[in-house]
Amino acid sequence: MIEDEIRMLRNDRRAVILAHNYCRGEVQDIADFTGDSLELARKATEIQADVIVFCGVRFMAETAKILNPEKKVLLPDPTAGCPMAEMITAAQLRELKAQHPGAKAVCYVNSTTEVKAECDICVTSGNAEKVMATLKGEEIIFVPDMHLGGYVSKKLGETYACWKGFCPVHAKLELRHIRDGRIEAGMDAPVLVHPECDKPVREAADHCLSTGGMCRFVKESPAERFVIGTEKGILHRLQKENPEKEFFPIGDLVCEDMKKITLEKLRDALEKMQYEVVVPDEIAKRARKAIERMLSV
Ligand code: 13P
Ligand code: SF4
Repeated sequence: MIEDEIRMLRNDRRAVILAHNYCRGEVQDIADFTGDSLELARKATEIQADVIVFCGVRFMAETAKILNPEKKVLLPDPTAGCPMAEMITAAQLRELKAQHPGAKAVCYVNSTTEVKAECDICVTSGNAEKVMATLKGEEIIFVPDMHLGGYVSKKLGETYACWKGFCPVHAKLELRHIRDGRIEAGMDAPVLVHPECDKPVREAADHCLSTGGMCRFVKESPAERFVIGTEKGILHRLQKENPEKEFFPIGDLVCEDMKKITLEKLRDALEKMQYEVVVPDEIAKRARKAIERMLSV
């Protein structure tokens, strides 16, 4: 069985497998730890093993590498990227900074290492509100996600200069999906959406949460039925951890990049020690500052 091969190779290589909540169910099942971007970044700082195999997309694997420069970090499919992270370049951010001298530059963790290196601090969907509360009153440039930026600035009563980036997967979620979800699941079923969703969708939902936040919310909630407005991979974990509860995904949201990591590629990664994530020292050093500042909040 391929799972046995992976387990054997994992022991031989002294490796730890991390997986994002959107990964394929079988990949989540074999991982040592599954979580959201913040939980995975934190986990990466606690790892004793020599090798981290990161089942997720490139910016996540690079974050793990930046936090563990001495470890080998492998991304089983080197083409697994996040289209939103590619929506702003470091040169575009420098231009934006020049238009707002004195502003603090904040990036969503879904950004390239080069962009992180230009920023004062980084946030994830799991901690954005808490981190941004520490910058209240400052002029803020927020990149690349206009939706997360819009969500947090509204909550804190602030105005940010947001870059117009977005997640093409969550952009597909529309108001009519929420309406249909409520009809199907019943009006008392809480509607949970990701902050990467468009404003009308966020406002029509009951809760706006990171993927880790959704997992915690469902576990603690007395409700039995939930409408889920995020990438479908999360349903595997929600159903596994809450077998007695019922989930109603809306919008048919699939992130093709997250699905690129298969068991076969995970096995090959461990066998051939591929594909190693490399981040040049100078850029890693600057990006690390923004990530560590976030982790210290
Ligand atoms: P989370 O940090 O909430 O898991 O989000 C990551 C992501 O890419 C959402 O699209
Ligand atoms: Fe990027 Fe969206 Fe995929 Fe998350 S779901 S990795 S933001 S494209």
